[in-house]
Amino acid sequence: MTSVLGIVGHPLDHSVSVPMHMSAIFTLGIDYVYMSFDILPGNVAHAVVQFKKEHIKGFNVTIPYKEIIMPYLDGVDEYASRVGAVNTVNNENGRLKGYNTDGTGYVKSLREQTGLDPRGKKVLMIGAGGAAKAVAFSLLEAGVQTIIIANRTPERAESLCRHLKIYFSGASSQCIGMPDINTIDHKAINLVINTTSLGMKGAGDIDIDLTDFENDTVVSDIVYNPLETPLLKRAGQAGLKTHDGAGMLVYQGAESFRIWTGVQPPVDVMRQAVLRALQEHH
Ligand code: ATR
Repeated sequence: MTSVLGIVGHPLDHSVSVPMHMSAIFTLGIDYVYMSFDILPGNVAHAVVQFKKEHIKGFNVTIPYKEIIMPYLDGVDEYASRVGAVNTVNNENGRLKGYNTDGTGYVKSLREQTGLDPRGKKVLMIGAGGAAKAVAFSLLEAGVQTIIIANRTPERAESLCRHLKIYFSGASSQCIGMPDINTIDHKAINLVINTTSLGMKGAGDIDIDLTDFENDTVVSDIVYNPLETPLLKRAGQAGLKTHDGAGMLVYQGAESFRIWTGVQPPVDVMRQAVLRALQEHH
């Protein structure tokens, strides 16, 4: 019987996970299908019960459910539990277990695309949701020295700072108000990352002045649709290095695929499918 995989989130119009995973399934010729499950807020618990009943093999979790899905699962692996967010769920003999492949996917793509070594660096991160947690965790694991977090809801940034301090006592985690992103010393920042949905098709830009960063600063966006977000466009115009969200999408997806199927995924095929789907979406 065909094994069912999919993605849970809301909204999912921007997502290209279906063509990305279907390209891997077709290439390998394995008996799986990957589907989109656009679940309304309030229906998540019910959806998880249904997935179990239907013996779904696994699914990705995306905005805005990476944290709120956790209590509905039967277990969470140690790493995802430390991060405090789940982007991958695997059905293991009827038990739904949560994993997180976002952060490692992000850092791998960052290194590959920009050559930036996170060790000793100072980072300005916008956003404090589930994706932000994973990205911050992996950057600190890779040796980032200082992470400054700004979020629309300040309490959420404060809570993330407290969380990070528990695991990375040798590094500095600070939170600032959203308007303060234009008053801190930009010259000292090596990497700016957007982890919010701002910049995604139709959603607004981030209110950050990019004119006084050093030229070797990397501006990174985990939003991948469009590939060139308004933030990245302005960064390019300001002469800064840019890092788009496609690489993180591919690497987190490839690792999820390996967890579900036990098979090494064809990463290049997945990347081509993502780039093709994003062109067609435009
Ligand atoms: P995910 O789990 O995928 O990261 P999330 O936990 O809902 O999704 O996090 C979304 C992030 O985008 C949060 O930082 C959120 O800010 P709040 O904590 O204030 O909600 C941010 N975000 C979403 N829409 C936003 C908007 N219109 N303006 C500013 N920030 C926004």
